[in-house]
Amino acid sequence: MIAWEAPGRINLIGEHTDYNLGFALPIALPQRTIARFEPSDDDVLTVRSNQFDGAVDIDLGTRPGDVDGWAAYVAGVVWALREAGHPVRGGRLDVNSDVEIGAGLSSSAALECAALGAFVAAGELSLDRIEQARLAQRAENEYVGAPTGLLDQLSALFGASKRALLIDFREVAVQQVPFDPESVGATLLVMNSHAAHEHAGGEYAARRDSCERAARDLGVESLREVVDVDVLDAVGDQVDARRARHIVTENARVLDFVAAMRESDLVAAGALMTASHASMRDDFEITTTQLDAIAEAATATGAFGARMTGGGFGGCVIALVPTDRVGAVSEAVEAAMRDGGYRAPTITATRAAAGAGAVTD
Ligand code: GLA
Repeated sequence: MIAWEAPGRINLIGEHTDYNLGFALPIALPQRTIARFEPSDDDVLTVRSNQFDGAVDIDLGTRPGDVDGWAAYVAGVVWALREAGHPVRGGRLDVNSDVEIGAGLSSSAALECAALGAFVAAGELSLDRIEQARLAQRAENEYVGAPTGLLDQLSALFGASKRALLIDFREVAVQQVPFDPESVGATLLVMNSHAAHEHAGGEYAARRDSCERAARDLGVESLREVVDVDVLDAVGDQVDARRARHIVTENARVLDFVAAMRESDLVAAGALMTASHASMRDDFEITTTQLDAIAEAATATGAFGARMTGGGFGGCVIALVPTDRVGAVSEAVEAAMRDGGYRAPTITATRAAAGAGAVTD
């Protein structure tokens, strides 16, 4: 029996920059998905999850379209591995996860990377973590049909305790940077709106299309090549130009955030988070009035900064908060949700935790 785990993630800053070959700064979360794999000589893999009823049988020769629902992420990994010429055995795969689904915490990448890690370990396959991230992404893009970037898989695979990951998606390079707000009197809060989202829907793909059109209008390979927002006047469509402006300014904010954290300048770091939220609200238009209200209540009560995290249209807002203001910020956010007639949020303090690996207990 092989037991492999992979964590959920939150992105501190750098949203929708991954497929534009820019920068992002995620952390891996303490919440994780564990895949326990008992290989057999069957040509069927039977998967179960504590988060869903019933078992799903996946034929090892599975093709996109054969399996849907949660098990499609596992089937996609089986398919992507075999497409790349790696053998996968049948048997039983039991999944146990405490990464909430649809909350923008990358439950899907945690599942992909846990299953993939179990198959790699069981088959003693030689695949480095960048190759694993690309295979898991291929499973999600081509099997599940969600046109997502590499952010979530790299976060799950490269996460480390007390470290954020500065990812450069053009180079596909991951650099650890110290991230331990508690050591400087601050707390990272995750405020879950419980408004579910999904990326196989049309809005995510529409944002991606806008960015690709803008890059074409500018004659660049990706929006990563653009650093000066003035050149965006040459983008034909006004909406595409605004989408592109989010990407260009967000890339700069990621690098500025890393510099601010290096100097323990939480005020500057927080201001960049709040600016990122405004850019997602006004230029990229992926927030919701509920998420805006959460972020505003947090900053109005003394958070250094707050922003939605993840793909958008629901999920979580994160806030960097002076530790002695955690109670006040939480109460203000809860009150704002009550006043707005929204469901009560779940607010928790979190930290940067380890990435994927063998389960040791
Ligand atoms: C989702 C996608 C990622 C990334 C983020 C937005 O989480 O899976 O690839 O694009 O949205 O930053």
